[in-house]
Amino acid sequence: MSSAFETVKQNLRAAPKVWLVTGCAGFIGSNLLEALLKLDQTVIGLDNFSTGKRANLDDVKTLVSEGQWARFRFAEGDIRDLETCQQLCAEVDYVLHQAALGSVPRSIADPITSHASNVTGQLNLLVAARDQKVKRLVYAASSSTYGDHPGLPKVEDRIGKPLSPYAVTKYVNELYADVFARCYGLETIGLRYFNVFGPRQDPDGAYAAVIPKWIAAMLRQETIHINGTGETSRDFCYVKNTVQANLLAATVESGEAVNQVYNVAVNARTTLLELFELLREGLVGGHSFLQGVKPVHQDFRAGDVLHSQADVSKGERLLGFVPSHTIRQGLGEALEWYEVSLRAGR
Ligand SMILES: NC(=O)c1ccc[n+]([C@@H]2O[C@H](COP(=O)([O-])OP(=O)(O)OC[C@H]3O[C@@H](n4cnc5c(N)ncnc54)[C@H](O)[C@@H]3O)[C@@H](O)[C@H]2O)c1
Repeated sequence: MSSAFETVKQNLRAAPKVWLVTGCAGFIGSNLLEALLKLDQTVIGLDNFSTGKRANLDDVKTLVSEGQWARFRFAEGDIRDLETCQQLCAEVDYVLHQAALGSVPRSIADPITSHASNVTGQLNLLVAARDQKVKRLVYAASSSTYGDHPGLPKVEDRIGKPLSPYAVTKYVNELYADVFARCYGLETIGLRYFNVFGPRQDPDGAYAAVIPKWIAAMLRQETIHINGTGETSRDFCYVKNTVQANLLAATVESGEAVNQVYNVAVNARTTLLELFELLREGLVGGHSFLQGVKPVHQDFRAGDVLHSQADVSKGERLLGFVPSHTIRQGLGEALEWYEVSLRAGR
């Protein structure tokens, strides 16, 4: 339990702020929206529905009170449009910037579209945050920035060469944020997320992340494909840890902590074969057809790194970040949500 996070929550409840959450109809954005509304904050959400869904906003509505929902305003729009960013930044204290086109393979298939949303979009927001004098912009960076650096666990200042157009866009985000601090004094913090999972992460489509994709495949009795031998490992991070990191980053007061990037994960490593077993064990109780189910192996995917694990001591030291959920604890909550939501056909 992070005592810094408890303090931040108390302070925000006592003196609510106005937040812009970009990518608010997406997975992480909608989890930030839920957490902020539950803390009685005022939130403006921006999304162009390129990968996000109205259903995610509807789901949040069911989880907060009427009064809390009344403090939310949704703006359908695009971060590639500077004027939109200027207008919305004019109204807020903090920006939590999540909007981007995720997925390494998507960026390999179409680097131009990924660049436009991920790089031009973030540049627009930085300019707007500077012009409108927002207190701080916290943005979603990525573990993909470690690229081909072999070190484990990953430490923030030791990165390699990017392995995909997506990784380039996320590294450029960090470079721009750094330069906006130097040239204009804008306060930013980058959060390098490592394989986030949890409720409302899209299980469908060619670019779905492994956890929701496998949960849906198991519940639908479809074949599970593993890319490579299954020894590939990741530091899977439950979304509530990510929410905690965002709120700590937005509000931390120490000057030393600002204009930095931080790993956001739990400093643990789970192989794909272990993940398969965790999911199967978690679901088999209510779905006996999963007894004895085995994955089918296929080729390793271009652009993917083999192993990933985060050193999270920098976030602990400067932000007070202490992950609240291990992968097992997170999967417990996530599996429950997917069972209900997939049964309801959402
Ligand atoms: N999920 C992960 O494991 C992970 C890991 C590392 C980094 N990230 C980063 O975290 C952020 C959120 O990812 P997510 O997993 O919630 O993905 P998501 O696809 O669920 O959410 C992204 C949201 O951004 C919106 N969006 C995209 N382009 C936009 C644009 N031009 N204008 C307005 N809205 C736009 C989409 O419609 C979507 O709702 C992204 O920046 C992503 O790169 C995620």
